[in-house]
Amino acid sequence: MSSASTNPPWNVARPPRAEGSTFLVTGGNAGIGYFVAEQLSASGATVVLGSRSPAKAETAMASIRARVPGARLRAVRLDLADLSTLRPAVESLEVDRLDAVVHNAGVALDDPPRRETGEGHELMFGTNHLGHFALTRWLMPLLSAAPAARVVTMGSFAAKSERLDLADLQSRKDYRPKRTYARSKLAQMYFCLELDRRLRAAGSTVASVLVHPGGALDSLTPARPPVHVRTAGARLGAAPAALLVQGKHAGAWPAVRAVLDPAVRGGEMWEPRVFGLRGEPRRAPVWNHLTDTRVATRLWDASRDLTGVDPGPQH
Ligand SMILES: NC(=O)c1ccc[n+]([C@@H]2O[C@H](COP(=O)([O-])OP(=O)(O)OC[C@H]3O[C@@H](n4cnc5c(N)ncnc54)[C@H](OP(=O)(O)O)[C@@H]3O)[C@@H](O)[C@H]2O)c1
Repeated sequence: MSSASTNPPWNVARPPRAEGSTFLVTGGNAGIGYFVAEQLSASGATVVLGSRSPAKAETAMASIRARVPGARLRAVRLDLADLSTLRPAVESLEVDRLDAVVHNAGVALDDPPRRETGEGHELMFGTNHLGHFALTRWLMPLLSAAPAARVVTMGSFAAKSERLDLADLQSRKDYRPKRTYARSKLAQMYFCLELDRRLRAAGSTVASVLVHPGGALDSLTPARPPVHVRTAGARLGAAPAALLVQGKHAGAWPAVRAVLDPAVRGGEMWEPRVFGLRGEPRRAPVWNHLTDTRVATRLWDASRDLTGVDPGPQH
């Protein structure tokens, strides 16, 4: 049953209160993740910024505190490209439950050469997909300890027209940076939906929700100096793009709604309402290719073999 009829319409400027909850945002120090953290802070929850740079996290927290009086913020050091550090990173959270994690951090390379993580995984697949896959494993006991936790995965519109090559997940045979990036996002989206199926089958209280930010440009994003500085020239130059896409503050809206709206359910996808590219968040049908459970299962098994962990519900 949807509670949409009993809840007031969603207002991106006035999200509901969530005092007592704790949320983790990966890559919360910059870009969309920064705005997810800023907007979640306004709910009264404790927001933990997962960042590979303690200095950038400090700067981001100072910016949020300047805008959200009384914001409850913490930071943990988190490098998704180094799988061996993820368990200690989760231990350093020092919480006994986690109400949501937003899998937001991401790396996108525009040009060759193909790069690898220290563990030998292609950098974008390794960071965006395998990093969050393994992180979920270590977070699952904390998520399961919350009454109704959510794993919110930031997908991408770029994955809509892409397909996985299960025989070449690491783009060893044929590396094209933009395609490899889109496939890494597609892998995250398959994982998100497969995770929800496994959670449901196990009767878990944890839900896994898919979101994507549409098109989100720095040049359309309000300034948050020194986290994000926007010149007048950049603002003027980007004005025509605003017809089609949006800023990163708006790109954050679907994820914030997926964390806070009681009407959101596991297995759903939320995206910007105008062509999936800009605007307020709405629920959208899950793309056809993402419903292929055979691909999702094979990706899960391959990811488990590559990371050595299984993030499914623990028995
Ligand atoms: N912008 C768009 O139009 C768009 C469209 C579709 C999907 N997305 C997705 O939205 C998410 C955020 O994108 P964005 O545009 O905000 O990107 P961004 O401005 O480049 O920010 C990326 C964030 O991820 C962090 N990160 C990168 N590698 C990391 C690692 N190994 N470990 C931990 N954190 C790491 C970055 O940290 P550092 O500051 O240390 O680099 C930064 O905080 C990504 O998942 C992206 O794929 C974006």
